Amino acid sequence: MSLTWMPSLKNRSLLTLLDCSDAEMLSLVDLALALKARRRAGVRGDLLHRRQIALIFEKSSTRTRCATSVAVRDEGGSAEYLARNDIHLGGKESVPDTARVLGRMFDGILFRGFSQRVVEGLAQHARVPVWNGLTDEYHPTQVLADLMTIQENFGRLRGLTLAYVGDGRNNMANSLMIGCAKAGMNFVNCTPKELMPQAALVEQTRAIAAANGATITIGHDPRASVRGAHVLYTDVWVSMGEEAQKADRLALLKPYQVNAGLVEATGRSPGDLIFLHCLPAFHDDQTTVTQETGALEVSDEVFEAPYSKVFDQAENRMHTIKALMVSALADPGAA
Ligand code: CP
Ligand code: NVA
Repeated sequence: MSLTWMPSLKNRSLLTLLDCSDAEMLSLVDLALALKARRRAGVRGDLLHRRQIALIFEKSSTRTRCATSVAVRDEGGSAEYLARNDIHLGGKESVPDTARVLGRMFDGILFRGFSQRVVEGLAQHARVPVWNGLTDEYHPTQVLADLMTIQENFGRLRGLTLAYVGDGRNNMANSLMIGCAKAGMNFVNCTPKELMPQAALVEQTRAIAAANGATITIGHDPRASVRGAHVLYTDVWVSMGEEAQKADRLALLKPYQVNAGLVEATGRSPGDLIFLHCLPAFHDDQTTVTQETGALEVSDEVFEAPYSKVFDQAENRMHTIKALMVSALADPGAA
């Protein structure tokens, strides 16, 4: 099976989806779809043959860590996991020094952590591609998987409407706003007034969306906001690093739970709508700490419904991260 892709991300970092053109972002989704079909056909390639990837993780991860490790190994490379306390970054060693050391040894670096400034510093000094695997502000590789999952279910992106209900100023809300605008999808951010996204980002994404025939809307009333949505999306109410705000956040976001009533308020029939969540999710699963609180951002009936595509979405993290690394490090035609 042959693969073709635009080599336009060759040796480039991805710190937010604003770092690539609209066409480049969509080509990553196309490449990920092709890589998924190729893997399903039993092919493990050599597109990252002998490539060495550093994974710096200041925060926990199941999907992003495993997606990257498996993607690298699938294509003949290897990944080194560096947890917060394993290396000197943030302690005895500065971001530029760490970047210059790792850049002498590795072919690429994936970073998950708190500050966007750290991932920017790594990219500025490493001289190898740096990918943002989540910061407080952005989660671009997640949105590539989200777009891929939407494409798989609807056969298109342009003209669809995604309604995000929850914490309107977290990394997912910010990155979805950018990704939808670039894909020509209408994005509705339904959130309390206390959790509005930055006005500058809204303005910037509105301009991008308008150029693609789409809109960015901020709403506060969940039932009104989700009307006509093809994709219902939510995320945790308390992101990593914000645990001290848990009580306030739960009180603020309680009316914003995605449940069967909210699905009905979309006005869509089953088959015309999907539910997405980047995961992990508090959905009343008795094996998690939600025993303490019950379901939070999504009810179990929605999470487990046939229109919930959250595990396809989780799998697609691997295909999209693979596409990103291949587009940055592999030679076109090497497949
Ligand atoms: N969605 C996501 O990034 O999951 P992890 O925190 O498990 O990596
Ligand atoms: N907003 C969440 C996303 C987790 C993938 C967090 O930052 O914890």
